[in-house]
Amino acid sequence: MQKRKTVAGIKGMKAAGEKITMLTAYDASMAAMLTEAGVDVLLVGDSLGMVVLGYDSTVPVTMDEMIHHASAVRRGAPAAFIVGDMPFGSYQSGERDAILNGARFLKEAGCDAVKLEGGLEVCSTVTALVQAGISVVGHIGLTPQTATQLGGYKVQGRDLESARKMVEEAKALEKAGIFALVLECIPDELGKIVSEEIAIPSIGIGAGVHCDGQVLVTHDMLGMFGKFVPSFVKSYCTLAPDIKDAVSAYTSEVREGMYPDRKHSFSSEPNLRKLLGL
Ligand code: KIV
Repeated sequence: MQKRKTVAGIKGMKAAGEKITMLTAYDASMAAMLTEAGVDVLLVGDSLGMVVLGYDSTVPVTMDEMIHHASAVRRGAPAAFIVGDMPFGSYQSGERDAILNGARFLKEAGCDAVKLEGGLEVCSTVTALVQAGISVVGHIGLTPQTATQLGGYKVQGRDLESARKMVEEAKALEKAGIFALVLECIPDELGKIVSEEIAIPSIGIGAGVHCDGQVLVTHDMLGMFGKFVPSFVKSYCTLAPDIKDAVSAYTSEVREGMYPDRKHSFSSEPNLRKLLGL
């Protein structure tokens, strides 16, 4: 069984030149499979809202929904390092709310850390969380909770001004106390520069190969969510058609009386009808 990682261990991976693997998980059975396959960190992302709960964006996701799913992930993967994603509205209203909600991830769901989106505007919140004993992962670049303010789901940091801002924000977040930083949807050269400019690990998603680790939405990389797949996603398999084929075979067999067959049924006393006097 894999040993549970620590914040220090994850930071040490960058120093040792070891790439960090992170994937999202929202339920117990997937969490168990990902951990058994050797993933370093499970992220209970607020992408939950889109790939599992059927919302159009991550904005409607609530703290209670996140806690419900994060608890399931912990039950499925008792030894995993789990990061709970703070949903929209759970930390923007002030440090007190951020600490209360961050603490829920640790106390109720058994998470090891939380993640929150944003740059300079969240630095004081990050420090408050860390001082309260809650380890924090940052997230800059394309931040889905505020995608409408960024002009939609598009590559960030393409011009000099926004690239410079991103480097500044990464450094400020590191100073504020984050122990790792998600970089989403930025040019690979900028991913390289940001990763070199900070001592903590960068975890890229659409941020090129030079990041210290990578994260993907599991439903995307397994080909289970077809509504919107970003171009940086590599599908390692295409489960959706396999699931549809299996389900359509089941429905045909049930309709034709082929399932359940003898092999999948329980036998009883011979002459049961007679023995029951019927
Ligand atoms: O919610 C999520 O899954 C995320 C990842 C895309 C990093 O924040």
